[in-house]
Amino acid sequence: MKRKFLAGLLCVAMGVTTMAGTATVFAADDAAEAEAPADDAAAVDLEGVDLENTKIGISIYQFADNFMTLYRTELVRYLTEDLGFNEKNIIVQDGKNDQAEQTNQINNFITDEVDVMILNLVQSSSAPQITDICNEAGIPVVYINRQPDETESDRWEADGIKATYVGADARQSGTFQGEEILETENKGDINGDGKVSYIMVQGDPENIDAQYRTEFSVKALTDAGVEVEELLLQRGDWDQAKGQQIVQDALTQFGDQVEVVFCNNDAMALGALQAIQAAGRTINEDIYLVGVDALTDAVQNIIDGNMTGTVFNDHFSQAQTAAQMAVKYLKGEDVAPVNMVDYVKVTADNAAEILEKIK
Ligand code: GAL
Repeated sequence: MKRKFLAGLLCVAMGVTTMAGTATVFAADDAAEAEAPADDAAAVDLEGVDLENTKIGISIYQFADNFMTLYRTELVRYLTEDLGFNEKNIIVQDGKNDQAEQTNQINNFITDEVDVMILNLVQSSSAPQITDICNEAGIPVVYINRQPDETESDRWEADGIKATYVGADARQSGTFQGEEILETENKGDINGDGKVSYIMVQGDPENIDAQYRTEFSVKALTDAGVEVEELLLQRGDWDQAKGQQIVQDALTQFGDQVEVVFCNNDAMALGALQAIQAAGRTINEDIYLVGVDALTDAVQNIIDGNMTGTVFNDHFSQAQTAAQMAVKYLKGEDVAPVNMVDYVKVTADNAAEILEKIK
C-alpha cells in the first residue's frame, strides 16, 4: 500500500529534485522534470553491494520525536526488508537531543568502521565539524531532516567531499499552510476586521524547517494581499505538551482575537487542539488550525473537522531516498549535494485519501 502510494505521488509529478547547491521552491512543473526516487526497491541497483556485511550507522536527533519515529521506522524497514541489508549491521542510535552525545555516537561509528552513515543532526550547525571527522575517516554521510547551511553543501561539492542532504524544502510546507488559510471562506479573517490575527507556534528555531515554515506561511497571506497581525510567536520545540501550553496561555491572553493558529508541525498542532477545545472554541467556525507532517491523528482530526489542514512531510520518500543515496556511496557513485522530496497539501478535500495511504 505504501509503495503504491509513493508510485501514485510520483506519477502526479511529486518526484525528488536533485539539486546542485541552492534549494528552490517547487512548482509541480519543476518536479515533473525532476529525477524521481526508485519507489520500487527492485529498481535500486545493488550490484556489488555486500548486503550481508555492510555496516550502516544511523543516528536520529531524538527518538522521542513523533515524526522522526515514523521516518526511522521506514528507514530501517526499507533498508532491511526492501533492499535486503542485514539487520544486525544497521546500528540506530538515539541522539537524545544532545549534540555532544551524538558526536560520541558518530566517533563510535568510526571506531566500528561503518561503511556509511545516515545522520539526523541534533544541531545542523555541527555539520562542518561532523563532515570533517567522517571525511577524514573516509566514511560518506547522508544527512537527513535538518538541512545544513548552503555554504556547507556548497563546500562538499567544491571539495569533492562524500556528504549529501536528503530532505524537503520547508518553504514549500510553509507556503502550503498559508494557502490552506487562504482557501477558507473568509481567508482567515473570521471577525471581518480586515486582518488575520494569528499565533505562531514554532519548532526548534535552530532548524531551517522552523525558520522557513514560520516565514513562508505568513508570506503566502501577505503575498495574496491579506493583512496580518502577529499576536504571539513562541518556540514549542516540535513538542505536543509545549504546543498545548503555549496556545492555552495565548487564548487566555488574546481570547477571541485569535483567528489562526499556525503550528510548525502536527505534534504541536495536536497540543494546540487540546487547548482550543478546552477553551470552548470551534475549529473552522471561530478559529483555524494548521500543522505540518500529516501524523495519522492530525489527518483524522481534519476528517472530523477538528483541524483545518496539514502538509504531508513525506517520510516514505525521504527515508527511501536517503537509503538510495547511501547505496550510491557504497557503489562508489557520485551523489548530488542536496536532494529534495515534495510536500503534499492535506485538507478536508483529500484527508481521507491520504489517511488510507499513510496508516
Ligand atoms: C520536521 C518535522 C517535525 C520534527 C522536525 C525534527 O521536519 O516536521 O515534526 O520532526 O523535523 O527536526
